[in-house]
Amino acid sequence: MAVLVAFASELGSTREIAQHIASRLAVVLLDVECRSVEEVDSVSGYEAVVVGSAIHNQAWLPSAVLFFRRLAPELAKQAVWAFNVGMADALPKPFRKRGAALQQKRLRGFLPPEVQLQGHRVFSGVYQADQMPAQLRVFFQLVGGRFGDLRNWAAIDAWTDQIAAQLKPGGPPKPMPTTSGENPGLGRSGPRAGQ
Ligand SMILES: Cc1cc2nc3c(=O)[nH]c(=O)nc-3n(C[C@H](O)[C@H](O)[C@H](O)COP(=O)(O)O)c2cc1C
Repeated sequence: MAVLVAFASELGSTREIAQHIASRLAVVLLDVECRSVEEVDSVSGYEAVVVGSAIHNQAWLPSAVLFFRRLAPELAKQAVWAFNVGMADALPKPFRKRGAALQQKRLRGFLPPEVQLQGHRVFSGVYQADQMPAQLRVFFQLVGGRFGDLRNWAAIDAWTDQIAAQLKPGGPPKPMPTTSGENPGLGRSGPRAGQ
């Protein structure tokens, strides 16, 4: 089973999530590649594709939108999962879940209608103070907003394991330890990974 994990990342956090997903999928699936969307000319050689993009200005990165547009006829014939990486968990607490749910709905609207997703998730990424205009930072923190590495590796692992369970013939994958804290990155058994 050849699986592609493709990513569009401006500052690196989405790339690291994609590499982590690919590495985890590679534990149970034979052939997993991780590449930037810009490096991928065709997906016809894969049986499943996982595509991730950072969210900037409430939208997928342009390279990810282009990826879906140019490869839509091929993606329409495949099992496709998608994830976005934003800053929902940086918001004041009452808005976090609602923010992620709204994003999920809106971001699906960017996809060509012929591409039917098996699943779509919005994860939080890394949101640092210098990514917000200086005049808004103090107000943002006063109302409960926060900055930092907000990636929830346990949630990412759980979603990855759902994908692996669907792709692996013959049942769910072997239980794997749930990641906590730091991104463990690619291990020795990691997939062929693009940067
Ligand atoms: C210029 C800019 C615009 C952003 N716009 C949004 C946004 O509209 N919605 C959101 O949830 N996160 C937004 N973010 C937060 C990013 O999605 C978050 O930092 C993410 O981890 C970036 O992924 P990357 O490191 O792969 O580029 C924005 C970040 C930057 C720098």
